[in-house]
Amino acid sequence: MNDMAPQVLISEADISKRVAELADEISADYANKTPLIMVGVLKGAFIFLADLSRRLSIPRTIEFIAVSSYETGSVQSGAVRLVMDVRGSLVDKHVLIVEDIVDTGHTLDYLIGIMKSHGPASVRTCTLLHKAESAEVDVPIDYTGFSVANEWVVGYGLDYAEKDRTLPYIGIVNPEDRA
Ligand code: IMP
Repeated sequence: MNDMAPQVLISEADISKRVAELADEISADYANKTPLIMVGVLKGAFIFLADLSRRLSIPRTIEFIAVSSYETGSVQSGAVRLVMDVRGSLVDKHVLIVEDIVDTGHTLDYLIGIMKSHGPASVRTCTLLHKAESAEVDVPIDYTGFSVANEWVVGYGLDYAEKDRTLPYIGIVNPEDRA
């Protein structure tokens, strides 16, 4: 395993510009739909949620939810388990799920179901990254930062085995580092 920094896929400046655009779009869409509750999916969305939420020009509150994927050996089965639910009530509130990345879509599909079970006024979804080629379930995504190819990406909250979460940019992990 070498110590090479991941190759830059999306620069810090490009992320910042796109987050500002998404914040403008969300602020406009929710101008007459309050209260808005942004639900960040731990751990990967914590940096995206922090930046996105601070750029909105409308009232908003923050909740977190945590999930983990079931694994069979080292192979992900697609089944998702709830590790931590939101603390506050979502009844009659407008919920925006904020994800780091949608890959197969199983996690977001599961999360939409959990959020709807809390009796909100609406549920929409926002993801920084979308691996469209990897979709296994058809899941509604209302706001997408960037579409990416089917490679493992890290940084800006995303990790590989807990490494590289705090990189300021999105990078591609060298396949040799994943061996
Ligand atoms: P899905 O259920 O297959 O859509 O997977 C979503 C979850 O898998 C994300 O919330 C991430 O935690 C993780 N994930 C998928 N692809 C990547 C990646 O390229 N880098 C980091 N995490 C990823």
